[in-house]
Amino acid sequence: MSAADESTASELVWVPAAGTIAREAGARLREFYAQGVKTEYKGDVDLVTVADRAVEKLIRARLGEAFPEHGIFGEEGTRERLEAEFRWYVDPLDGTTNFAHGFPQFAVSLGLEHRPAGTAADADGTLVAGVIYDPTRDELFTAERGRGAHLNGRRLQVSRARELAEALLATGFPSRKRHASPNIHFYQEFTLRSHGVRRAGSAALDLAYVACGRLDAYWEFNLNTWDTAAGILLVEEAGGRVTDFAGNKYRLESDEILASNGAVHDELMRLFADMFAGRGLTPIPTPHELAERRKSMG
Ligand code: IPD
Ligand code: CA
Ligand code: CA
Repeated sequence: MSAADESTASELVWVPAAGTIAREAGARLREFYAQGVKTEYKGDVDLVTVADRAVEKLIRARLGEAFPEHGIFGEEGTRERLEAEFRWYVDPLDGTTNFAHGFPQFAVSLGLEHRPAGTAADADGTLVAGVIYDPTRDELFTAERGRGAHLNGRRLQVSRARELAEALLATGFPSRKRHASPNIHFYQEFTLRSHGVRRAGSAALDLAYVACGRLDAYWEFNLNTWDTAAGILLVEEAGGRVTDFAGNKYRLESDEILASNGAVHDELMRLFADMFAGRGLTPIPTPHELAERRKSMG
């Protein structure tokens, strides 16, 4: 840690305790992962395991000890003190499908929102802290508003890519109502215009990777607050930008998220606008057309 990083670390308010909690939660995930867990279905392909529930319970208890006055909103049902001035959004296991299949890309995500008295129930407060822990790589991503983003204590900066043609991107696909999602069209077009699009299965890590420059941009439809709260602050504190697809301020209830290094943001937004207007989709052969072409070539 540099001297500058050390002085920043000593000023942190929530990250030290939240980081310890995320590490403990991640250690539990590692144990469940090593022993293998039975999978249940929440929806047709929306999976849940005993690990999701047990780790949310652990996080809820630990947050309650460290921050007894804070509210908690967790994916597996925790709803505590939602009238409080501070609220944690908890995803105990982001990347459950990966976890259940033994694919090592999943994380714990804890995001803290400040909701001063008078904040309307349907209005956003301000994200003030975020912690994402990847237990398989022992990587702890942390951020506090105004104090930068860090990976295992090292200051993070978004990438320097200037245009889509030199960018590595990521996205994800919903596990609920998948037939209603048009994202495959965006996946196709962005793939053809960039270095590629990864679909690694953890929104929290996708956002953390934009913050640390492994990815230049990331987009997705229909995420939940527990998926994004921590990652948004990480991207912003690392110098990046987070909006909806049209460039509007991202709201925790938004149906769309576009996070980038900032430099490629406008180009991506223009492509979204074109595609929503029915322009810009590069034709590719259908499997049938390909089969016919092969046949005609003998
Ligand atoms: C999922 C992951 C995935 C995203 C899905 C999320 P979960 O979260 O973040 O990357 O594409 O939309 O629901 O269910 O594994 O916590
Ligand atoms: Ca999630
Ligand atoms: Ca989850």
